[in-house]
Amino acid sequence: MWQNISMQIYFAPMEGITGYIFRNAYDEIYGNIAKYYAPFISPSENCPITPRERKDITPEHNAGINLVPQILTCRSDCFIEAARELQAMGYKEVNLNLGCPSGTVCAKGKGAGFLPQTNELSKFLDDICSYADKEGVKISVKTRLGYYNPDEFYDLVEIFNRFPISELIVHPRIRSDFYKGEPRREFFAYALTHAKCPLVYNGNIYSVEDYRDLTDALGCKLDTVMIGRGLLADPSLADKLNNVTDATDFAKFRKLHDTLYYEYQKVMSPDINVLYRMKELWSYWKNLFPGQERDIKRLLKTKKYAEYEAVVYHGLMP
Ligand SMILES: Cc1cc2nc3c(=O)[nH]c(=O)nc-3n(C[C@H](O)[C@H](O)[C@H](O)COP(=O)(O)O)c2cc1C
Repeated sequence: MWQNISMQIYFAPMEGITGYIFRNAYDEIYGNIAKYYAPFISPSENCPITPRERKDITPEHNAGINLVPQILTCRSDCFIEAARELQAMGYKEVNLNLGCPSGTVCAKGKGAGFLPQTNELSKFLDDICSYADKEGVKISVKTRLGYYNPDEFYDLVEIFNRFPISELIVHPRIRSDFYKGEPRREFFAYALTHAKCPLVYNGNIYSVEDYRDLTDALGCKLDTVMIGRGLLADPSLADKLNNVTDATDFAKFRKLHDTLYYEYQKVMSPDINVLYRMKELWSYWKNLFPGQERDIKRLLKTKKYAEYEAVVYHGLMP
């Protein structure tokens, strides 16, 4: 048994899910998160941050939350413009997205699509790190192993080592893996012995056992991990990893559900839009309700609040 695991957990950015409403609800009810990473903002030449993106990251909507904004771009001028605005909002760390596997993003040479352009990437990092150094901002990076092949990672580590990256978050998959299959842990092990900056592991931690297997495989304890889907599927996972005694308290889950359902209704309409959000969450939460697959199926078909509430409050959580 692992005891007294005391670790820093970062909540992974998940576009469309971990926006400010989710972060506030989760932090108030569960907490135990050292940093939340905001879903990416994608600056363009004329518009560093759109009003919609600004709404998500404005400090007003993130009081008491240790938030790190993330930027997705392959142009250093656009990155710097957006980072300046984030700095003006009070942010001291900005994260660079080098992992997004989406076809439209990669086709523009951004996210994981930036990884094969190693010369351009070096120049980009040089530009943004010079800016960050002058301004006293930290730049962290969230990366995959490569675009085509995990062996690209060896060169990438060498490139990252040339810059003062505050933290390197490694999701040990390549672009074509998307979020499927086993993470390629051996490449994270390579980073542990070769990367100069602090490292954060990300990928497929769904339970305390997964964390234990990972550290056994790597042969060392990891002080900091980033978790996304595992925290959605089991919101008490951070509590469990930190040995909180009431970790499995179902009242907390119910409160998370009710808070999100209520808060989304305040900013969205009609019913179908709120229910779309809730159903996306239920696609992760369904594993918390074994044997209730029929109710979950019914829930996923609901179109009106009354139908949804009948399934949730009379079926799943009476
Ligand atoms: C729906 C969805 C949205 C995501 N959005 C982002 C994002 O905005 N920025 C980012 O760096 N990663 C994003 N990711 C990747 C996650 O941050 C994380 O790296 C990935 O889910 C693997 O970690 P996990 O196995 O702990 O979930 C997204 C993943 C999913 C499934």
